Amino acid sequence: MKGIILAGGLGTRLYPLTHATNKHLLPVYDQPMIYYPIQTLVKAGIQEILIVVGGPHAGDFFKVLKNGKDFGIKHMEFAYQESGDGGIADALRLAEDFAEHDNIAVILGDNCTDADISQQVKDFKEGAIIFLKEVRDPQRFGIAEFDSQEEKKIISLEEKPQNPKSNLAITGLYIYDNKVFDYIRQIKPSARGQYEITDVNKLYLQAGKLSWAKLESFWSDAGTFDSLYRTGVYWANKKLKDL
Ligand code: G1P
Repeated sequence: MKGIILAGGLGTRLYPLTHATNKHLLPVYDQPMIYYPIQTLVKAGIQEILIVVGGPHAGDFFKVLKNGKDFGIKHMEFAYQESGDGGIADALRLAEDFAEHDNIAVILGDNCTDADISQQVKDFKEGAIIFLKEVRDPQRFGIAEFDSQEEKKIISLEEKPQNPKSNLAITGLYIYDNKVFDYIRQIKPSARGQYEITDVNKLYLQAGKLSWAKLESFWSDAGTFDSLYRTGVYWANKKLKDL
């Protein structure tokens, strides 16, 4: 399986911090934000990684990541997303050649987690897997609705709902088979003008090919001041405890 990290976008929610560099290079405690998703993929045994970058500071990624050897990556590539804020699915489109019909593990560049997804990567055959996590502010995320309290079957997915049907956020961590690129071609931009990854996941759901797993360990995105701060505090506490 190959890995894809989506690190485009303009990071406008973090202005003025993102005037100087790309959001994914900002510090989360003692590491640039993008180190965390890289480590998640490497820990899962993935050795070929494509990083989709964008915006005016894309060149800064080279200064920080160089050729990826420091992380134990065998092969690292970059792609440049020209449409500044075309959305996650639009960025993923750029990974089609790199994927070369292989399955892919996709993670958003601002998603920081200590979850271990190596089992899912190893066992994956076809379809898609989304990873869920309980959150306190479900309006900010893609949300999954289950058919009953037992949480067996997902019946709906909604992107940033005003009245969320659950507090189970769809994290920015996904595993897809190669059909994902056909599904991306089928979707249209949302009301906010973006190609939404949630619309792609809905097509997998309709086809009966969407599986899910709950992340039991820490997960947070770090794309707002609050979440950036809280994520930094989590890693500071964890690392200081280990000393
Ligand atoms: C994106 C996705 C959303 C997901 C979130 C996780 O939101 O659209 O479904 O829950 O990432 O980080 P965005 O960060 O683009 O607002």
